[in-house]
Amino acid sequence: MLFATLPLFFAATALASPLRQHEHFFKRACATGPDTAADFLAWPAYSAAANNASTPLGYTNTFTDLHASSNADGYAGYTTLSTYDVSSCAARCSASSDCHAFNIFYERSPISSSPSSFNSSCTSTATIKCVFWNGAVTTANARNTGSTPNGFKVVIAGSNGYVLNTVNAPSGYTSPIYLNNAAIQAPLNCVGKDTYLGFQIFTGAFDAQKCADACSGQAAYSLAHPPADGSAPKTCKFFNTFQELKNGVVVDQKCVLYSESWGKGVAKNTGFAYGGDKFTVGLSYAYSNATDAGVCVKA
Ligand SMILES: *[C@@H]1O[C@H](CO)[C@@H](O)[C@H](O)[C@H]1NC(C)=O
Ligand SMILES: *[C@@H]1O[C@H](CO)[C@@H](O)[C@H](O)[C@H]1NC(C)=O
Ligand SMILES: *[C@@H]1O[C@H](CO)[C@@H](O)[C@H](O)[C@H]1NC(C)=O
Repeated sequence: MLFATLPLFFAATALASPLRQHEHFFKRACATGPDTAADFLAWPAYSAAANNASTPLGYTNTFTDLHASSNADGYAGYTTLSTYDVSSCAARCSASSDCHAFNIFYERSPISSSPSSFNSSCTSTATIKCVFWNGAVTTANARNTGSTPNGFKVVIAGSNGYVLNTVNAPSGYTSPIYLNNAAIQAPLNCVGKDTYLGFQIFTGAFDAQKCADACSGQAAYSLAHPPADGSAPKTCKFFNTFQELKNGVVVDQKCVLYSESWGKGVAKNTGFAYGGDKFTVGLSYAYSNATDAGVCVKA
């Protein structure tokens, strides 16, 4: 029996109260040059801060100094910072069980209510934002280049992305698809064959690498031991790893292997009930072999 989806754990609001506008005001615009979006994008200090940032322990830097912010899976709130402080952003992410990736950047924002001490010829300020995500932030999903509300050009500069090592793409695999609280329930493939290759259970800290090793190990083994009938070996090309929870408490990390890649559309297994207990799924991610995703070909 399948359960209805779990309530989502991540908050849709900021994790901390944003600083008041003037406290993170950047004096660049009026003090040093024309106050335009193009000037903001070209401002070398933003690039310098982005390129100079060191990657926090436990994270992988997935992109540096883009002119776009992330549109990843599972928004988990944001905070603003008074300086481009990647380690403080990481500390906040690490403190939240819903945050597995974050994006830090300078955003050109309009000055809405400037204190009287402000230079009134300034129309823009730089807000340093730290945005938290459940799913990985990647170059591919860094797609938000800004907008023009009420004629004011909001643009993004110095955008860096960081993903927790434990969910980041293991070597040889693609960036994960975030499946939240659902596991892949693969149907038969396009020629009516089963692509399921079995599962493994891991205890200890969640780490996608453990499942990647299982997938690569299965592939190597089946290549070395091809079927006696001469048919092509069925090798692992895709895996789905997630936490199994019993009555809301994490029990283990499950790792399910497949010979072909599947998408979000078949992530339909959210758990089951057994003997009065509820078994559910959390932190579900899927990864494909980076060079050979395993695509079904009709004969
Ligand atoms: C305000 O900005 C203008 C340039 O836009 C500059 O000439 C002027 O010195 C500034 N005034 C103050 C008080 O910063
Ligand atoms: C680069 O990083 C170092 C060490 O974190 C810091 O002292 C320096 O101010 C940074 N430079 C820039 C341009 O951000
Ligand atoms: C990905 O697939 C290719 C082709 O089947 C294989 O050679 C390679 O070892 C696989 N990568 C991993 C990380 O298992």
